[in-house]
Amino acid sequence: MDNLMEKLQEAASYIASKIGEEPVQIGMVLGSGLGELADVIQDPVYIPYKDIPHFPVSTVSGHKSRLVVGNLEGKRVLCMQGRFHYYEGYGMDQVVFPIQTMHILKIKNLLLTNAAGCVNESWKPGDLMLISDHIKLIADNPLRGMNQDALGERFFDMSTAYDKTLRQIAKKCGKDLGLDLKEGIYQLFTGPSFETPAEVRFARLCGADAVGMSTVPEAIVASHMRMKVLGISCLTNMAAGILEQPLDHREVLETGEKAKESFSALVRSITKVWPL
Ligand code: HPA
Repeated sequence: MDNLMEKLQEAASYIASKIGEEPVQIGMVLGSGLGELADVIQDPVYIPYKDIPHFPVSTVSGHKSRLVVGNLEGKRVLCMQGRFHYYEGYGMDQVVFPIQTMHILKIKNLLLTNAAGCVNESWKPGDLMLISDHIKLIADNPLRGMNQDALGERFFDMSTAYDKTLRQIAKKCGKDLGLDLKEGIYQLFTGPSFETPAEVRFARLCGADAVGMSTVPEAIVASHMRMKVLGISCLTNMAAGILEQPLDHREVLETGEKAKESFSALVRSITKVWPL
């Protein structure tokens, strides 16, 4: 993308003009099932993606396409209600543009959530999983191309991409809520086709506990910009080939719907104690 910094500045300036001076403390990407969390944000300012200079527009049904900025559990948050997926046809640079915009807005903390297929056979649909690490075996990378030194270094560490302290805090919150929170590795597949059973066996062999179509590009640029990231997956279905029945997107939506209360409760309690 040409003039990336200029585009980011324009997007950030537009958002800043709508939300006022008070700094935003946590950026949140609300995946399928969690979008309604944005509806409980206090004193919300809604900013449709289509109004923000250079933002792509989401094409997935079930995703709203706007930022919601306001207060959640005593923190000032900026939520993406709906994200951009690689499978929609966007370049990875477009997928991560909003996250880079958050950095220009001086947001240093990022919560990434998603729906994912469960590869770990001892877990079950509806479980929530803290992402401890990820695997990206697809060739593309959102930072391919000229490095923007103003955002981060050309070569950078990914060994602490998912912040350990935040995961510990999340575990404590989960325990206090009586949730049996899992922790594991998320492997990116591009979609939109679900994985084949052989690909799921391969993912398990790789060490993956979950497979999904998002989050990894965002986590990569967040690391580049040294943001602190917490990732949580809602395991909406057993990944392909584990059970007899074929995969169905309706199952993903239905399980997401059932899990959304505990997912929201977890996110709210983490937000409350999120260290700044
Ligand atoms: N695979 C990939 N992405 C997903 C899945 C899955 O099984 N379920 C929800 N998102």
